[in-house]
Order: sequence, then C-alpha cells, then structure tokens
Amino acid sequence: MMDKTVVLGITGGIAAYKGAEICRLLVKSGFKVKVIMTRAAAAFVSPLTFETLSGGPVGLEMFQRPESWEIQHVGWAQEACCILVAPATANIIGKTAHGIADDLLSTTIMATTAPVIFAPAMNVEMFNNPIFQDNIDRLKNLGYSFVEPESGFLACGDQGRGRLAEPQKIVDYLLTVVQGTGDFDGQTFLITAGPTREPLDPVRYLSNYSSGRMGFALAEAALKRGGKVVLVSGPTGLKPPHGVEFVSVKTTLEMREAVKKEFPKADIVIKAAAVADYRPEDISRQKIKKSGGELMIKFLKNPDILKEIGELKKEEQFLVGFAAETEELKENALKKLKNKNLDMIVANDVTSPGAGFEVETNQVKVINRKGEVIEFPLMTKRELSDKILDEIAKLKKST
Ligand code: PMT
Repeated sequence: MMDKTVVLGITGGIAAYKGAEICRLLVKSGFKVKVIMTRAAAAFVSPLTFETLSGGPVGLEMFQRPESWEIQHVGWAQEACCILVAPATANIIGKTAHGIADDLLSTTIMATTAPVIFAPAMNVEMFNNPIFQDNIDRLKNLGYSFVEPESGFLACGDQGRGRLAEPQKIVDYLLTVVQGTGDFDGQTFLITAGPTREPLDPVRYLSNYSSGRMGFALAEAALKRGGKVVLVSGPTGLKPPHGVEFVSVKTTLEMREAVKKEFPKADIVIKAAAVADYRPEDISRQKIKKSGGELMIKFLKNPDILKEIGELKKEEQFLVGFAAETEELKENALKKLKNKNLDMIVANDVTSPGAGFEVETNQVKVINRKGEVIEFPLMTKRELSDKILDEIAKLKKST
C-alpha cells in the first residue's frame, strides 16, 4: 500500500474524534493519508491531531495556499486511490447526492474518479429521515459505497441507529474496495437472476418466489473481482449493481433470447434465475372472467435455457447452474450437472430455514464436474457469492 493515497474526509459531528483512530489505522495499513476537514469538523477536533497522525498538512479551506502549484482539490482527487468520509454527516451526503461542491471536501469528492466510501454518523431521526435515505439510495445507485452505522446509545442521548461503525470495520471495508482481488480481470460473466413471469391474461401471471437476491449478489461479487458483468433478470424489486450491463426480461422466452444473444461473449455463465418450466398455451387478450365456473388452463413446456446453452458451450466457457430442490438434493443436482453439461452446480435445498427464495441468506452444496462436493454453512447471499466465485476460480485453474 506504500504508494497508495487515501483521502480521509472528516466532517462535523461528535464522532469526528473517531476519525483520528481511522487515520491511525490507515497509516498502519501502509497508506499515505491526506486529511480534509470541514470547518465544522475542525470545531470538534483540532487539525493538529490529524497533521500529527497523517504526517502531513490537513486540507481545510478551498483557497488556502497550496503546498505546491497543483490545485489542491484536483490534485488530491486524482492522487487518491479511494476517498473515505468518516464520519460522514447528513450534510456531506446530501451535498454529494445533489452535486453541490462548496468546500474543499465536497469539491474533491466531485473531482475524483476513485471509489468514495461514506461512513455515516448522526442522530437516529436524522438517519431515518426519508430525505436522507433517498440521498443514500441515490448515491448507492451511482456506485458510492457505505459502511452502515451501528445501533446503540448516541451522543445526543437518543438510542438507535446512527453510531459510527467501528474504525477497524471501516478500514477493513476500505481494504476490500482498494485491493479487490481482481482474479476475474478481463473475464465476462453472464448471470441470470430473479423469476420469470408467464402471463395468463392482461392482469395475471404464473411465477415463483425468487427475489433476485442471489443473482444480484453474484453480479456484485463478480464485478468487484474485476469481471465485466451482463445481468439478465426477471422482474424484481432490486436495483442492479452499478457497473453491470442490465437486461430486463419478463418471460422465459424473453430470458432465453437475451441469454442466447449474450452467451457467445461470455467466459463464465451463472444461472441463478428461477425459470418457469411451463407457460399457458393461450394468453387471454381480455381479463378472464370468473363467470364460467372452473377454469382449465393448458400449459406448454418452456425450453430449458441452461440445457440449450450447455449444448452450445465451447471448451473455454464455464457453465454454472443452480438446482432448487425440495428433496434428494445431491442426487437431483448431480443429474442436472450431467444432463445440462455443466462445470458446476449450486445445490440449494430450498426447504431449509434461511435458505433459498426471498431471504438474505442461503446454504448450499457446490458440486463440480469432478464430482467434488463442497458444503457451505448458512451465510449471506453476498458472502456465498464470493465462495462460489472462489470455487469457480479454483476449478478453472486446475484444468
Ligand atoms: O432469487 P432469490 O430469492 O435470491 O432465490 C434464489 C434461488 C432460490 C432462486 C436460487 O438460489 C436458485 O436456486 N435458483 C435456481 C432456481 C431453479 O429454477 O432451479 P431449477 O432446479 O428449476 O433449475 C435448474 C437450473 O436450470 C437453474 O440454473 C435454472 O436457472 C435453469 N433453468 C431451469 C428451467 C428452465 N426452463 N430453464 C433454465 O435455464
């Protein structure tokens, strides 16, 4: 890290004093740290503290005489491998979300192309304020990241969410952003997510409980590790991770078309989508009325997209399927691995608590084409995504 510079922004709140520990930990991790304090932050903690800890001058004012003839906000913005604002007030987050650059810190944030991380700290009601939450959503969609505050006793006397995350946690997160693992640099992923919907009439459809969480988490992990990601998804309430190429589809036939179009460019395909196996033969043009008593619907079998691309797969392409099972998990998953010509299958017992559809967590067995079975305990879908990518990387390396 010796050659990397982190710009540490300190904004005005009582947690500004914890910024000193963050600065110390960053220096200890080997970063050059350049500190910018807002005027309000300097009212809480003396700039001398940060000068001493960072071993350099602290940026305070927009027009203070620069160290050299570079323009400071541009110079630091370009030099930074990452900007960390910790603690981040509602004010700096609101300003960034709306493009306001009226002091050294907000201008530097605006002028950088490096990742920017905010670690918010504030009163619980300010944190819960929908305007503030909107600003966070807006920034997340633009690719800014957040180390969420913790719950507990706040300096203002209130109890709740708003306490700055632990300094070590903030620095650990920054390390993952800065280091990335980059082990999928230059590789193109095609990932599917969510359910498909098969319309019955203009107001009804047949679908399943997939929320898209598993596929979106995989897309985020692949992106963070250097991959280029095309995410083909059925309808979900999720926002695609910033930086993926997003293809929105509804029906199985639409998903099939999108997948087949993207497949030739893909190095690694991961099919986490829960695809409807059947679709109604006829889609009524008008809303089906209940006047006719019982309703019989004839279903046609949908194409198996994964099987089709398994047949087209070139030797250098890597194909991962998911198997959502309610019984005989391993046996059924193994059958799918073979029948669909896969390199790996993620066997998902969707009846197990905390696993499968909708929830934030999952618990799976990964089975590869060598017949190796790797069991993972219950963990978040985001954590599991990295484990699945680790297994892909291992198998690709060994062949
Ligand atoms: O979206 P979440 O709420 O996070 O839930 C995650 C999940 C449970 C949906 C996910 O973990 C999962 O298990 N996805 C696969 C669901 C599924 O359709 O499994 P399957 O066993 O029916 O299909 C096997 C594989 O073939 C899957 O990769 C599926 O995408 C693919 N398939 C299935 C049918 C079909 N017609 N075409 C396909 O490509």
